[in-house]
This record gives sequence, structure tokens and C-alpha cells, in this order.
Amino acid sequence: FAPGQYVTLRAHREGTEIRRAYSLCSTPRQLDADGTLRIGVRTVDGGRLSPYLARELAPGDTLDVLAPQGHFTTPLDPGHHRRHYAALAAGSGITPVLSLAATALATEPTSTFTVVYANRSAASAMFTEELADLKDRYGRRLHLLRLFSRETHHIGLPHQRLDAPTLRTLLAGPLPAAVVDTWFLCGPQAMVGGARDVLAEQGVAAATIHAELFHTQPDTPPAPAEGTRAPHPGAELTLRHGGHTSTVPVQPGQTLLDAGLAHRPELPFSCLNGVCATCRARVVGGRAEMASNWTLTEEEIADNYILTCQASPLTPTVDLDYDVV
Ligand code: FES
Repeated sequence: FAPGQYVTLRAHREGTEIRRAYSLCSTPRQLDADGTLRIGVRTVDGGRLSPYLARELAPGDTLDVLAPQGHFTTPLDPGHHRRHYAALAAGSGITPVLSLAATALATEPTSTFTVVYANRSAASAMFTEELADLKDRYGRRLHLLRLFSRETHHIGLPHQRLDAPTLRTLLAGPLPAAVVDTWFLCGPQAMVGGARDVLAEQGVAAATIHAELFHTQPDTPPAPAEGTRAPHPGAELTLRHGGHTSTVPVQPGQTLLDAGLAHRPELPFSCLNGVCATCRARVVGGRAEMASNWTLTEEEIADNYILTCQASPLTPTVDLDYDVV
């Protein structure tokens, strides 16, 4: 897998299949060295899977783990000279950043990594020891800035949330945008969206920014795409996945994922909310439209990628290819 990617876990609880995406916090090197694959789980009150994982899952139990996925990563190469990576992470958003920082620092001996990590308090922060270990190992090559919204002020920032004013202060001080080659933004939608806006206002190229959302705010869904049209009734979906092609009907009210799953239950999905991109596929024939998209970039959309869990057909036939990367 690539650092920054996630796996989807599949479990059956009380007769229902549950899938959730969890970022990998371990590194590809650890997997090669001792077969370790680690995820970070923060217990969500009322959650359907995380309380089980945190409190009940025991050695000997079995979970299905789907193949690693995700584009929250960047090519790393020992030949890269003095690259500077910067990550802005809030809460459990540190999980993939831990893997990215550890891998980048180990792979590229002259590169540096800045991690800005925001939490309510030190007690609520994840991976404190792992970050301290990385700092011990890499010294000045890892710059760690920690922000706490409910604790004492730090490094003179106006306040400690990782919001637009704080980011502007960081960019004017310890983290000038001009010295950063690649950005990673990971956390709630408000933080990631706000950071994108501030970086854009500082002239940071969108192509250098990688973003991953950890959860969305259901009360502020993204606006439907301009010119949203009614789904085509009685459409036919042809999908290619795992080298096999199937043609299936799309019933009224079904998403393309719903229609596909009725005949191909192995199709990938996780959040069903337009957040994780596990269900991503490419439209190679016909047209479809998403009700919601929190994760695909403008480039991916221009390239005809779509979140099938959010997609409805606009034409009598739609062809999807899941096998393209
Ligand atoms: S299943 Fe997560 S975006 Fe579709």
C-alpha cells in the first residue's frame, strides 16, 4: 500500500453488514518487515463499528479487510532532494499523516516534514508517543506544531483551533507557504475546506494539495452540481470490476452503486456519504450525476471519475469502469 491510504473493514453486527474506512497509521516498510498493518480507531459515541473495534474485538475474531485504497498520498523517492512536506491534521486526521511522515522521512534522507496537529486537549490527542518517537529519530527534519483548542496558548497564535486565522498566522511565521512542496490536509470538512481557501489565497497551487475528509457536517451538504437534472428512468448500467463485466438494470431511486450491488455484491463501498471515495469508478460511456461529493477533485471529475454511491444515470445507458486506477 502507499502511505496515506486506508482500508475498509467489513463486519457483521446484529445481522447487518457494516463497512467503515480506516486509515493505515503503519508504513509499507513495517508491513514488509514484520507483516504489521495498523489502523487508528477513535471511538464514536453511537457508532456502529468503532465501539466494537475498541472494546469487544479480541484475538481470534475475524474481520474482512478490503484492499488498501485512496489517493491521499504522494510518490516518495530517495532521489528527491530537500523536499518539504507539510500536513495540517485535526483529531483522528493524524492517522494517515503518521504513515506519510514516517515514510517520507525514512525514504528521503534530505527531506523535511512539518506536522501541524490540532486537538481539543493533549489528553484527547492520538499517537502522542508515536509522534514523539518520530521526533526523537529524525530531530530537526520533523517539525511538530501542536494546537489545543481548550488548553494554554502556544507559540503566540491568536487561538488554538486550526482555522483560517490560525493558519494565516502560521503561514506568516513558522510555516511559510513558499517553502512547502506538498501539502496534506486531513480532518473535518470545515477545517480542510478552510485550509484549502487560505492556501489558495496565498497562491499555493491546487495540484500540490492533497486532502482527506474524516467526517462531514450533515447540516451543510455541498450544493448539488449546477444544472442538476432528473435521473433517467429505466437506465441500464454496464460495469467492469475485477476484469468481469456485467449489465444490470437501474431501478428508480437507485444509485449506480445500489444497482451494481444487487448483482455484484463484491463492489467496493464504505461510507455511502460521498466522503471516502471507496466507491469511485470512471464513467466510460453515457453520463451520470452525483448528488454529493466531498472528496473528488475537479481534475478527477473532469476525468469522468464519479462516486457511485452518489450517482444517478442521466442517459439510457451508463458504462462504469472500476478497474482504472
Ligand atoms: S462509499 Fe464512500 S464515497 Fe461512496
